[in-house]
Order: sequence, then C-alpha cells, then structure tokens
Amino acid sequence: MSEFPFIPFIPTVFSSEECIARSAAFYSEMNKRRTVRDIADTPLPQGVLESIIATAGTAPSGAHKQPWTFCVVTNKELKSEIRKAAEQEEKANYHQRMSEEWLRDLAPLGTDEHKEFLETAPALIVVFKRIYEIENNGHKHNNYYVQESVGIACGLLIAAIHHAGLVCLTHTPSPMNFLERILNRPQNERAFLLIPIGYPAKNATVPDITRKNLEEVMVRYL
Ligand SMILES: Cc1cc2nc3c(=O)[nH]c(=O)nc-3n(C[C@H](O)[C@H](O)[C@H](O)COP(=O)(O)O)c2cc1C
Repeated sequence: MSEFPFIPFIPTVFSSEECIARSAAFYSEMNKRRTVRDIADTPLPQGVLESIIATAGTAPSGAHKQPWTFCVVTNKELKSEIRKAAEQEEKANYHQRMSEEWLRDLAPLGTDEHKEFLETAPALIVVFKRIYEIENNGHKHNNYYVQESVGIACGLLIAAIHHAGLVCLTHTPSPMNFLERILNRPQNERAFLLIPIGYPAKNATVPDITRKNLEEVMVRYL
C-alpha cells in the first residue's frame, strides 16, 4: 500500500532538435562553472538564496527522506567564528594531518590554511546531512543513502548558484563538527559541506585546470 496517491506525470516535451540544442547549451553553461576562492563582499539580491536552496531540495533521495538541512549564515560574528574554527582545523590539516601525496595534489591549486572567503562572502551555506529522524513517538528512524542523496542535492545547489551568475566554493575543513557546535544543530545532523557563495572579487583568478574529456569518462556498451 502506497502512502502517496499516484497522479499523472506531466512530461516536458521537446523535439529531438530542441533536446540536442538544450543539452549542448546546458553543458556549455555548466562548463563555465569554476570554484572561486576570491569572493566579493557584495550583498546578494533578495530571494536568490531561497531559489537556490529550493532547487537543491528538488534532488532525488533514498526513500524520499530528503535527508538535508541548508543553514544560511549571513551574521558577521558567526562568519568570523566559523572562519576561526575552520582555519584552526585547516592549519592542522596542512601542517600535520595531510599526507605528502595529498599536499602534492593540492599544491597546484594554491590553497592553504587561510580562509578569508569565509568572512568576505555575503553568505555561507552550511549543508548538514540528517542521519536519522526522530518520529513523534520518539523512535529513531534511519535515513537511507544519505551520503548519495545529500551529494546530489549539493550538485543541484552548485549548478543553481552558477546558473544565477554567482560563484561558490565547495569547502571541507575537516573535521567539520565545529559547524554543528557553532550553529547549535540537533543530534541527528552532521556537517556535510561548507559553501561560501557570492559574486567573484574584481580580480579573482582560478587555477588553469583541464577536465577529463568524454572518452575518458564515458564507456559505451552498444
Ligand atoms: C567534496 C569536495 C571538497 C572540496 N574541498 C575543498 C576545500 O576544502 N578547499 C578548496 O579550496 N577547494 C575544495 N574543493 C574544490 C576543488 O578543489 C575543485 O572543485 C577542483 O579543483 C576543480 O575545480 P573546479 O571546481 O573549478 O572545476 C572541493 C571540492 C569537492 C567536490
């Protein structure tokens, strides 16, 4: 017995030509997305954060549990506190915890323990995964495929940010449990990603990376 009534699915119909053109145009747009670490302090237009997060919330999820919470931090003091804690973890990462190999892989990106963007960005989206839910009777109900579901939601979030003409950085100052403490999150939530969002700074630069070509990532079984 289904909990949901079934309703007709209304398809979005395109001709083959439109389908080809739209997929190519979307790829072209997404291929311009870059991780930007120089973020201006320019405020965001009203309502944009809401649309972006609502887009993330359209993601599929295991058993439709929607195991995510998106916290939006614009408060100056909280941003400073998050920067301080993140830099503390990152200092330990760069100087003690990361392997030689990891540091060699990061070197071309020019990253270090300094995270100015955590204060300059007009907003930080802190994504939490919800490991379980507490039912009304107090029973702990585990969520399914939480990592996969929240990862997909973050992909949509990042695409929506780019589509709006904004930039962001997927930041993982691990361990990230300081975010649970600072934002006073409930027991069932674990920090997943820390995403500063805004406009790029005037003279922002990005590393000149290349992406794998299609032949490297696509395997055909005809
Ligand atoms: C899960 C994940 C964690 C990441 N963590 C960091 C991070 O902590 N700091 C950082 O500067 N970049 C981080 N990045 C960004 C990557 O370095 C970046 O996506 C990669 O270099 C490719 O560049 P592009 O996003 O411009 O295509 C992370 C990306 C992902 C997907």
